[in-house]
Amino acid sequence: MELYDKVISAQNFLKEYLPSSIDYAIIAGTGLSGLADDVTDPIEISYSEIPHFPEPTVEGHQGKMIFGKIHQKKVLILKGRFHYYEGYSMTEVTFPIRVLHAIGVKNLIITNASGSLNPALEAGDLVFIKDHINLFPENPLRGLNDDRLGLRFPALNEVYNDGLLHQSFSLAQKLGISSRQGVYVGLQGPSLETPAEYNYLRIIGGDVVGMSTVPEVIVAAQCKMPVLCLSVCTNNPFKDGAKTTIEEVLDVANKTGEKIRLLFQELFKL
Ligand code: HPA
Repeated sequence: MELYDKVISAQNFLKEYLPSSIDYAIIAGTGLSGLADDVTDPIEISYSEIPHFPEPTVEGHQGKMIFGKIHQKKVLILKGRFHYYEGYSMTEVTFPIRVLHAIGVKNLIITNASGSLNPALEAGDLVFIKDHINLFPENPLRGLNDDRLGLRFPALNEVYNDGLLHQSFSLAQKLGISSRQGVYVGLQGPSLETPAEYNYLRIIGGDVVGMSTVPEVIVAAQCKMPVLCLSVCTNNPFKDGAKTTIEEVLDVANKTGEKIRLLFQELFKL
């Protein structure tokens, strides 16, 4: 079965439960699942029910989507995402993005946890991603292109949407949430970086590093879906001597998740 037909069959399934347009879809990364508690009249759909959707395996991620309203905005929250390091193909990692586009999602919000490459960033800071550097070994658009899914060579210069970025960044500042804008370096993981690697990633222009997001953003660009990406900086290897543990990452991500929740509540009032 072709990818396009798989997307259409997932779309046909979801159409039965969801309205024909959705203001925001939010990919809730590590520690950010609490967001789903804020929607009114939630409709919950397990990934396992959706045709061709992969199922997540990683700790701290669940496999379901929750639709509802937050302050009159129609919002779909994806609890659980698919990482390349888990062994999924790039097509599987990015399948949800194609489905979100097909069901009429207007704006995509991606959240993730990341390590700091910028000595000025503290664990717990929020970073609004304005650009990325792709160090994944594979591009999700590699292979024969199906024109029904989008362009062969989509541009990536405007995928991090300026309007969404500035609107939410100034809101975060108003709310007193410690935040910056920065460049996300995406690599496959799952091992964390060596001190020399953190240093290299800083020198090439990264502010934060993580193991997700870039494949999803590339496919969003092919779908022409505007993206807002928020990264929770969970560790600063330049301060902690790169002795990061996954427990620290999860702990900080959970705490900062609460700040993001507050920010979204205000954003959806606009
Ligand atoms: N490196 C890669 N991914 C991460 C890190 C890190 O230091 N922290 C959270 N996600």
